Amino acid sequence: MKKLNVAIIGTGFMGRAHSNAWSQLGKFFNIPFEINLKCVAGRDEEKTRKFAQRWGYEEYTADWHTLLNRDDIDIICILTPTDVHKEMAVAAMQAGKHVVCEKPCALTWQDCEEMAAQARKAGVVSYLNHNYRRVPAVALAKKMIEEGKIGTVYHWKGAYLQEWGINASSPFRWQFDKNIAGAGPLYDLSSHAVDLARFLVGEPKSVMAMTKTFIAERPGQQDGEQKVIPVTVDDAAFMVLEFENGALGNIDSTRYAAGRKNGNTFELYGSKGSICFDFERMNELEFYDNTVPACGNGYKKIIVNGAGYPYSGAWWPAGHSIGYEHPFVHAFYDFVQAIENHSEITPNFEDGARIMKVLQAAQKSAETGKRIGLEEEV
Ligand SMILES: NC(=O)c1ccc[n+]([C@@H]2O[C@H](COP(=O)([O-])OP(=O)(O)OC[C@H]3O[C@@H](n4cnc5c(N)ncnc54)[C@H](O)[C@@H]3O)[C@@H](O)[C@H]2O)c1
Repeated sequence: MKKLNVAIIGTGFMGRAHSNAWSQLGKFFNIPFEINLKCVAGRDEEKTRKFAQRWGYEEYTADWHTLLNRDDIDIICILTPTDVHKEMAVAAMQAGKHVVCEKPCALTWQDCEEMAAQARKAGVVSYLNHNYRRVPAVALAKKMIEEGKIGTVYHWKGAYLQEWGINASSPFRWQFDKNIAGAGPLYDLSSHAVDLARFLVGEPKSVMAMTKTFIAERPGQQDGEQKVIPVTVDDAAFMVLEFENGALGNIDSTRYAAGRKNGNTFELYGSKGSICFDFERMNELEFYDNTVPACGNGYKKIIVNGAGYPYSGAWWPAGHSIGYEHPFVHAFYDFVQAIENHSEITPNFEDGARIMKVLQAAQKSAETGKRIGLEEEV
C-alpha cells in the first residue's frame, strides 16, 4: 500500500488533536494509504522530542524549514498561531506538499487568497480545518437542507461562546495579541461560525458588528520578565448578517460567557422546518417539521450516530456517542481521498479568504459603526 508521510508544525492543543486523528484514520476508515507519522516540528527541542516519542513520530526537529526539501514528507499540517500560517503554508506548497492548516486561515483575506493561488499553482490539496462541518449531526443538517426538508432558509442564529477570558488574573497569551491572532473571538470563534453559516445557508452579502474589550491588560511573561501586558483584541464580537439568498442571521462570539465551555451552537429556520445544534450535545440534532400540522408536532431529537449517518458508521454501533476528536478524523478521511482522486476538499484556502473577508468587514463595521457590503473595499 502507498505510504503518506505526515509532518506537523506545532505541539500544542492542535498538535495533539491532529496527531490523534492521523493515528486513528487508517484504523477506522478504509483508505488507500498507510499513514506514517514522520516528523514533528516545534520550537523547543526537548519538548518536541518528548512529543514525538509520546505520539509515535519517527523524527522531530526544532526548525520547521527542514521539512520543506525532504522527498519523504507528503503532508504538512500547520498547527501554529495565525500570524505564521501564510508563510508556512506558502513555503510548504511551493515545496509540493499537501497542506492542512488550522483556522483562522491567515491574518487577512488577501493573505488567504495568496495561499489559495499557491495551492492552485502547485496543484496540491489544501484543507482549512473548520472541523465542525464534519460533526455527523452538522453533516446531516447539510444533507437535510440539500434534500429540501428545510425549504427556504429565513434565519441563521449562530453563537460560539466560551468563558476562559472572564477571570482578570488569567495570564496573557498569544490569543490576546492582535499582531499574532489578528483579533479575539471575532477571528478565533466566529471564523468557525461563519464557516458553518456559509456551509448551511450561503454567502453573506453584508455585515454589521459591535466588538468589546472588557479587560484591557493582563499579567504575563514578556522578554523573560513578568509584566502587565495590554490586550489588543476584542473579548466579544456580535454581528448581524444579510445573506445573498435573502436570509438574515446573527453570530455572537465571546470568551466571557460564564458556564459556556465550548458553546458552539446554531439555529436555522426555514419555510418547511427548523434545525438546532449544540456542540456540547454533539451527537444530537433537533428538527422541527413545519409541514406536519401543529397539533402534536414539536422538535424531534435525532441521535446522530451509527450506520446510516454521515461518517458515523465507521465508529461504533448506534447510540454509542463520539466526541470532539472524531470530526478531525472525518476531515482527514476526505483529505486523503482528495489526494488520491486529484480533487478538492472544502473548506480550503479559497473558503478561508471568503470567511476572512466577512470577519474583516465585521471589524470595519465595529470601527465605523456602518453596515459593510462584502463587495465594498474591505
Ligand atoms: N479547529 C479548532 O477547533 C481549533 C481549536 C483550537 C485552536 N485552533 C487553531 O490552531 C492553531 C494553534 O492553536 P493551539 O490552540 O494549538 O495553540 P497552542 O498555543 O496550544 O500551540 C501552538 C504551537 O505552535 C508552536 N509555534 C508557534 N510559533 C511557531 C513557529 N514559528 N514555529 C514552530 N512552532 C511554532 C508553539 O510552540 C506551540 O507548540 C491556531 O491557529 C488556532 O486558532 C483550532
